[in-house]
Amino acid sequence: MSKTMVVDHPLVQHKVSLLRSKNTGTKEFKELVSELATLLCYEATRDLPLEEVEVETPIAMARTQMLAGRKLALVPILRAGLGMVDGMLTLIPAAKVGHIGMYRNEETLEPVEYYCKLPGDIAERDVIVLDPMLATGGSACDAISQLKKRGVKHIKFIGIIAAPEGFERLKNTHPDVDIYVAAMDEKLNENGYIVPGLGDAGDRIFGTK
Ligand code: PRP
Ligand code: URA
Repeated sequence: MSKTMVVDHPLVQHKVSLLRSKNTGTKEFKELVSELATLLCYEATRDLPLEEVEVETPIAMARTQMLAGRKLALVPILRAGLGMVDGMLTLIPAAKVGHIGMYRNEETLEPVEYYCKLPGDIAERDVIVLDPMLATGGSACDAISQLKKRGVKHIKFIGIIAAPEGFERLKNTHPDVDIYVAAMDEKLNENGYIVPGLGDAGDRIFGTK
């Protein structure tokens, strides 16, 4: 059974509100995206398997626990997903990073893939796909299909703001994928933007508008 979660932690909600404001500039926007990625990473890695180990402390031997199991990879969807990578690596520094580049055709809103570079052993890793915006869900669904074609078995998606349309589409297209977001908004507008949303995430992270 896959998991879907809107993370309602007060720190997450506070930072999402700052992120939404049109008065938040590029520097602060980038910092907030990164901090939110760290907080969402904490929640999304809650079920990582542990194994018992022995560690020698300055006082005595301790039987304690460390991460076990399969290795992780992060796959940001370019461009905006890039803004989440460092925040994730703060908590899981050993993860490898692959990249999938996609942009939405402005008329059809269908995603167009223009880049894909993944770690050679991606099929042996558990993968976390990153994109702050889940709007129609087309980009996330296609990126996840690409990963499955390459043999990836265990996939999670972490986003910041979702529209109900995109959330449902992702859940229905890939029912095996766990989905973590910080906010579920009202709807999409006629241009495929999330309402109230935060505008164009890529432009706000990279200052391109
Ligand atoms: C944005 C966003 C997602 C996508 C979400 O990217 O970062 O990748 O839209 O929309 P969807 O759920 O309807 O597919 P965009 O196409 O603007 O490209 P960019 O990140 O390069 O600006
Ligand atoms: N992509 C964005 O960056 N913002 C939206 O609202 C929808 C898609």
